[in-house]
Amino acid sequence: MKNPFCKPPFPYCYAPMADLTDPVFRRVLARLDYRGIHFTEMVSAEGLVRENLRTLRMTSTLETGAPQGIQLFGGKADVMAEAVRRVEGEGRFDFVNINMGCPKRKILQRNGGAYHLKDPEGTARWFATVRKAAQGTLTVKVRLGWEEENILTVARLLQEEGADALIVHFRLKDQPYRLPADWSWAERIKPLLRIPLWGNGDIDSPETARQRLSLGVDGVMIGRGTLREPRIFQSLQEVPLTPWEDLLAIIVEEVEREYSLEKKKRTTRLKALVRFLTSGRVEGRLMRRDLLVCEEYERIKTLFLGLPEGVITGPFLEKDENLC
Ligand SMILES: Cc1cc2nc3c(=O)[nH]c(=O)nc-3n(C[C@H](O)[C@H](O)[C@H](O)COP(=O)(O)O)c2cc1C
Repeated sequence: MKNPFCKPPFPYCYAPMADLTDPVFRRVLARLDYRGIHFTEMVSAEGLVRENLRTLRMTSTLETGAPQGIQLFGGKADVMAEAVRRVEGEGRFDFVNINMGCPKRKILQRNGGAYHLKDPEGTARWFATVRKAAQGTLTVKVRLGWEEENILTVARLLQEEGADALIVHFRLKDQPYRLPADWSWAERIKPLLRIPLWGNGDIDSPETARQRLSLGVDGVMIGRGTLREPRIFQSLQEVPLTPWEDLLAIIVEEVEREYSLEKKKRTTRLKALVRFLTSGRVEGRLMRRDLLVCEEYERIKTLFLGLPEGVITGPFLEKDENLC
C-alpha cells in the first residue's frame, strides 16, 4: 500500500487514544463506514517484543479496506527496531507510527513519548536506527516541543532521517488542554517539509475540521472530537448520520463481543466511553451521573442505551489535565 498520509482520498482521521481507540472503538468506526486511516492506541514496543498478552490484544486488526497502522512507544532504539521488524514481518498493518508526544510520566520514565523531543539530534540518531530496520511506511506523531517549541528542528531532522509523514499535535509537552492548540504552526512547518504534514488539536466539529484543512496541512487528526461524536466522519464524508440510538446499540454490541467473558471490563469500557460521549452536551453531567456510580453491568447497559442525544454546546471535558 502506498503511504496513506500522502494525498489521501479522505484527509481526516481519528487520533490514537490509549484505552479508548481500542479494538472495540475501531470496529464501531468501521461499522459507521469510516473511510479514514485507522490507528491502534499506543502500544509498548517492549511489550510487543516480549509478546505480552495484554499488549498483543491491542494489536488486533479489522477486516476493512481502509489503511491501518500501529502506534508504538518506547525509549530503546534496538527494541523499537525489533518491534517494527516484527510488525512488518507479520504484514497485518499498513504503517507504523511512533509516539513522540505523550507527556505521561510513566511513558517519559521509559524515555518514550515526548521524551524524544528533549534532544532533537539524539532523537534523529535514535530514529535513524529504527528507520534502518523498517522497510515500509514509518511515521511520527509529535508535539510542538519539550519546554519550548523546537518543532522546526525536530521536523527537519525526522524528515532527513526518512520519516514518511509527520503528525503534529499543536501543543507543547506540558501545555494543558484548556489552552488552545496553536494551529499557526501549520504554516511555519509545512514549507519545510516534502513529506505529508497532518495537524491535530481541538477539532470540535466538521466545520472546524474543514477550516483547519484549509490551512494547508495534508490531513487533520481528530481526538476527543471523535470520542464525543464518532459520527463526525460521516458528516465529513457527507453521508447520512447513523441514528444516535443505533450508534449506542453498536457500541454495546462491540463491547459485549470483545468482552464476552469479562463482565467487569464491559463495565469499565462503557463508563470510559460515556465520559467522552456526553462531554459538552446539554445535560451531559446529568446524563452520565447515574451511570458512572452504578456497578451492575445490566443496569449500566440500560442507562447507556437510554442516553439522550443532547446537543453539543460546551467544551470537551471538565477535568482533562491528565490526558495524553
Ligand atoms: C484519553 C486520551 C488518550 C490519548 N492517548 C494517546 C495515545 O495513545 N497516543 C497518542 O499519540 N496520543 C494520545 N492522545 C493524544 C491525542 O492523540 C491527541 O493528540 C490529543 O487529544 C489532541 O487532539 P484533540 O484535541 O483532537 O483531542 C490521547 C488523548 C486522550 C484524550
